[in-house]
Amino acid sequence: MDGLYSSHTQEQLQTENESLLPNGIELLAKCADMEIMKQRIVEGASVWFSPADSSNTMEFFFVHRGALELALDEGPTVYRAGDSFYIQGLKSDVYCRSLEDTELIYVSNQPMFHDTLDFETYIRKLISDINDKDHYTYQHSTNVMHYSIQLFNEMYPKMADRDAILNDMVIAALFHDVGKCNTPDAILKKKGKLDAEEWRIICHHPVDSGRLLRRYYSERVAEIAEHHHERLNGSGYPFGLTGEEISREAMIVSVADAFDAMTTSRGYNTVKSFHAAAKELYDLPELFDRHVTQVLLRLVEEGKLHEERDVANDKV
Ligand SMILES: [Fe+2]
Ligand SMILES: [Fe+2]
Repeated sequence: MDGLYSSHTQEQLQTENESLLPNGIELLAKCADMEIMKQRIVEGASVWFSPADSSNTMEFFFVHRGALELALDEGPTVYRAGDSFYIQGLKSDVYCRSLEDTELIYVSNQPMFHDTLDFETYIRKLISDINDKDHYTYQHSTNVMHYSIQLFNEMYPKMADRDAILNDMVIAALFHDVGKCNTPDAILKKKGKLDAEEWRIICHHPVDSGRLLRRYYSERVAEIAEHHHERLNGSGYPFGLTGEEISREAMIVSVADAFDAMTTSRGYNTVKSFHAAAKELYDLPELFDRHVTQVLLRLVEEGKLHEERDVANDKV
């Protein structure tokens, strides 16, 4: 019938289903500037809503299924299936966390889909670059992200602004080694001892990670990634920072990073048990913050440290 457009299949106008990130977005319908989209956010993922370029932009969200907790000025507010909210004239980012697998119907009076798609494409390329370059680094990146989340949640269950901080730390943890895309294979996969020049090149990867992340993320995200090889006594790299010059998020990621490297086989290293690795890190207080290593050791001893997950296989 003229003027009535219907869809009885699972087909969408455009989809970003292949995304390796937990969130997937689909364009369901479009007319002039108005877009209707469906956004999926897996349980436990953090996302944020940002101020629009124009005060005329209105973005409406209907929770189709699941539950989303928004960090509003007046406190955390949960929106469940059937609830809705809209954004217009927002002054700062609103962070939110999905309490279960969530699906939002998202209506905007300005085109948003392709901006989101460009961003997703960039992120997907970053992850696949890591995987193409070195599958160990890819798997390691996802492990470090999940260990970092568990450490942070255990250490700071009620901290103010925790969702915003956690969100930044999660991105930094996942991409902490993305700078290795610039490291020659011969050095990255060398099984023997590195010479001075090779070591200098390896030591540059946190700087490259920070430079890549600064293109799309906040300074805090870039800095956490840049500092993941710094150590409390200044013996780390690339800057030789000491003590409080290293943020708590960077320290969490560095512990998670060292722990995964010690407990995962790279073909030539001695793989340690979770407990042996956690105890060894705990016994190095001159390098790693005891607040973090103590929590790691406790989680391991209580059998609470989760198995690693591979984000490439996550349902989006
Ligand atoms: Fe690294
Ligand atoms: Fe790493």
